[in-house]
Amino acid sequence: GCYNSNNNNRQRLLVVANRLPVSAIRKGEDSWSLEISAGGLVSALLGVKEFEARWIGWAGVNVPDEIGQKALTVALAEKRCIPVFLDEDIVHQYYNGYCNNILWPLFHYLGLPQEDRLATTRSFQSQFLAYEKANQMFADVVNQHYEEGDVVWCHDYHLMFLPKCLKKYNTKMKVGWFLHTPFPSSEIHRTLPSRSELLHSVLAADLVGFHTYDYARHFVSACTRILGLEGTPYGVEYQGKLTRVAAFPIGIDSERFIRALDLPPVQDHIKELQERFKGRKVMLGVDRLDMIKGIPQKILAFEKFLEENAYWRDKVVLLQIAVPTRTDVPEYQKLTSQVHEIVGRINGRFGSLTTVPIHHLDRSLDFHELCALYAVTDVALVTSLRDGMNLVSYEFVACQEKKKGVLILSEFAGAAQSLGAGAILVNPWNVTEVATAIARALNMLPAEREKRHKHNFLHVKSHTAQEWAGTFVSELNDTVIEAQLRTRQ
Ligand code: G6P
Repeated sequence: GCYNSNNNNRQRLLVVANRLPVSAIRKGEDSWSLEISAGGLVSALLGVKEFEARWIGWAGVNVPDEIGQKALTVALAEKRCIPVFLDEDIVHQYYNGYCNNILWPLFHYLGLPQEDRLATTRSFQSQFLAYEKANQMFADVVNQHYEEGDVVWCHDYHLMFLPKCLKKYNTKMKVGWFLHTPFPSSEIHRTLPSRSELLHSVLAADLVGFHTYDYARHFVSACTRILGLEGTPYGVEYQGKLTRVAAFPIGIDSERFIRALDLPPVQDHIKELQERFKGRKVMLGVDRLDMIKGIPQKILAFEKFLEENAYWRDKVVLLQIAVPTRTDVPEYQKLTSQVHEIVGRINGRFGSLTTVPIHHLDRSLDFHELCALYAVTDVALVTSLRDGMNLVSYEFVACQEKKKGVLILSEFAGAAQSLGAGAILVNPWNVTEVATAIARALNMLPAEREKRHKHNFLHVKSHTAQEWAGTFVSELNDTVIEAQLRTRQ
């Protein structure tokens, strides 16, 4: 109705995220090839028919020249994407520095960097300035493309400064912010030197969303304890209005996975994998190679399991897919060599001339290979030390209608709140506990596996990414209407 200002009568949604859902590869001075990454967020927003989504974000490449920038902008426009160009220094300070060396580990309870304190403090300051500057650059692009009636949805820890910048341009802009990571206990958040600035900026939004009720509660506590504001069951009172704070657990496009299993290429992969691992149980880990995923701990637990269960040694294989990520951040480089060392040691210890217990890959799989792998897996190991939600657990469940395999799931993943009843929940720091869970999963009787799978499958099928996006955006609309009503009264 009154919100439609565009031609085709659908409300426009500006989705702002650090990374655009495409990767761009430069082919020449003014030519680019684009590859859509069909992640959860993309299909979530395609599924919401009432909205016409446009994306604003960084294309993940450095484009210093104007010709290249223009050509990329034109190419991206076809995919409804609008680029924000960040130069190398900003990427270094904002993305590698403040986002991924400070906020990401802190929000996952790994604390602030602890090397040379003075150096850290100095670089902290300049990294925070770069963070503000980058957020301002995103705000400028949003502002250029904003039309009255649009809804602006900001995503994740990269853009905590964005709501405030946007409201400075236009107080009437409807702004939502959603965090895809955990929001930590207020006692953790308060160690951050820029703790208050970030909270103030997020509170400028009309609706603030998290995956779980606990994260929302931690955020409200941080606002009451650090800023001295008033919290209510609905949110935080801020500058004469209520900033709505609520939980919106994300899901996946489950139908996409279920349908894929019937495709001939996926069926072919399934047959190949079954042939390759005949006579052995398949255990699977799929993670970005990130310290929050607890990959070394998981592999050590698998080693302990092999140590204690000689019977299983030649009857089980662990396939660990570790997708490289943020490779310019030193912590991530250290983690790669650490994982390689552990895998090498265990394969040396338990392998034979013809087989090894762990297959470790440092790359991503294409969608069809991934679906096939999920489908042939007997036991999936999702043992993050902390994880906002973790959709690998959802994808695995979606692909297990035939096999009804077991999910071992960290209690520190957001998904534990929704899939806890069907999974075996573990404390990933406790290697003995995880080793015991592996034995239990491998020995579990079909009736119990079926019961657990059914619980999780129903959840994954009925709580989709599309429903998540639809709920958030319609609540964002309502929240603003409510706030305007209150000012009028
Ligand atoms: C997490 C974050 C996302 C991010 C993704 C990949 O899921 O919540 O915002 O896009 O990791 O990380 P990258 O740094 O490669 O964008």
